[in-house]
Amino acid sequence: MKTEILKLDEASSKKAAEIINGGGIVAFPTETVYGLGASVFDEKAVKSIYAAKGRPSDNPLIVHVADKDHIEQVAREINNNARMLIDKFMPGPITIVLPKRKEIPDCVTGGIDTVGVRIPEHEGARMFLKACNVPVPAPSANSSGKPSPTTAKHVFDDLSGKIPLILDGGACTGGVESTVISLCGEKPMLLRPGLVTHEMLESVLGHVDIHSAVLENGKVDKAASPGMKYKHYSPKARVLIIDGDISDGEKVYNLCVKMKRNPLILWNGEEIANSNMHADTLMNHNDTSAAARNLFALLRRADDSGFDTVLISAVDKSGAGLSVMNRMLRAAAFTVLTKNEIAFLDENKLKTVLQNS
Ligand code: TXA
Ligand code: MG
Repeated sequence: MKTEILKLDEASSKKAAEIINGGGIVAFPTETVYGLGASVFDEKAVKSIYAAKGRPSDNPLIVHVADKDHIEQVAREINNNARMLIDKFMPGPITIVLPKRKEIPDCVTGGIDTVGVRIPEHEGARMFLKACNVPVPAPSANSSGKPSPTTAKHVFDDLSGKIPLILDGGACTGGVESTVISLCGEKPMLLRPGLVTHEMLESVLGHVDIHSAVLENGKVDKAASPGMKYKHYSPKARVLIIDGDISDGEKVYNLCVKMKRNPLILWNGEEIANSNMHADTLMNHNDTSAAARNLFALLRRADDSGFDTVLISAVDKSGAGLSVMNRMLRAAAFTVLTKNEIAFLDENKLKTVLQNS
């Protein structure tokens, strides 16, 4: 199959909607990352999303709708907490998990009776969804396990030959996937941090629990958050998080070079401006929103450039930083080197660290 890339406009959204309503799948931009959509009522098309991505079938999809009135087509009941979040943050980079309507096929949600609903803020995304005139389940449009795509080219690199059309809406402004919050339990639970931050959620709902899997590599119970048990966001390169300052990063970098590895370091721009290391700017002045926007594209570029090791600066976990740390920890298979560990690090110890992934 030849994969076409079309600039997103009215004509291309119409064409994409025809594909969706004819049982096909299409990649489209949102403000977070690119998604790969189908018609919610077409089980065969939904299954072909899983096949194109190589995604495990028990990992549920988020269902996208064009506006608030359409949420009821997907969710069985909309409780008070949901109403407040819808009023305050939708359209926007947030997904709320609610009880599922029985009309939504099981293959969309991997067999569970809840469903994630999201209204993207991206105007082009909503133009496409309106044209489809049906809710659109869509995961990120990457091969399963790879960093999520933030440009049409990223989608093409992963899915060329497997899908007929990519709508190109330019680079995503958010860069990490939507916040996922479950409103089905007794208390609201943040399942995946995003750019509607934990602080923003608490400003509306009061206390919001953060699921332990957000920052820890623990056992994840299926009903709470099926997606979190899978390996995520992994470039080919081995990623290590450096929880220290640039001199610590430099020490690890030099050890990598000594071990004949080919490292890249991702750091605050101002601290690597005159560096002799292979370095790229994760953000400037600890602006974690910029880190969110850049992270996935930088990891993909590291692979394309042939680096086999990527050292990344840890970031502050408040605001957008929580979503950045959550994605970085998965990319790094939860390997964090602290200042203290780096002080005692030698080639042998680093070799062991690099082997554990
Ligand atoms: O920003 C985004 O959310 C993007 C764009 C395309 O909208 N989509 C996205 O989808 O990131 P995906 O499939 O890559 O990630 C969906 C996450 C998974 O971790 C999944 O387990 C979780 O949301 N999820 C979906 N439905 C759920 C449900 N009913 N209960 C719990 N978690 C759910
Ligand atoms: Mg994904």
